[in-house]
Amino acid sequence: MAHPDDGAAADDCGAASIIDRMSSYYQRHIFFCLNRRDDGRPCCAAHGAESLQAYAKERVKALGLAGPGKVRVNKAGCLDRCDEGPVAVVYPEGVWYTYVDRSDIDEIVESHLRDGRPVARLRLE
Ligand code: FES
Repeated sequence: MAHPDDGAAADDCGAASIIDRMSSYYQRHIFFCLNRRDDGRPCCAAHGAESLQAYAKERVKALGLAGPGKVRVNKAGCLDRCDEGPVAVVYPEGVWYTYVDRSDIDEIVESHLRDGRPVARLRLE
């Protein structure tokens, strides 16, 4: 099997391919932007992203959803939707969210990550 770092696999390392491979390993993958800026420009960290990502990870684990074949909660750098933050995105569906508090995270975890039903009221287009 080719190692992801070998030249032979290099042509197959586009974003869609990476998402395909992650999606086959995890049923769902959520990425939270945790980017912080200190220059006054908008950033997700200024809206509680770090503590709410940690809370999401805790809830996924507590509900028994964490692990291969299930759900993975990851930190991400800037996802380039800074004015709409805080933002998170769920794959494989490619559904973008914004959120305000723990109850929003509970709804994303239980409805989308566990039950496969995206949360319309928190969704970004
Ligand atoms: S700082 Fe979060 S999307 Fe850019």
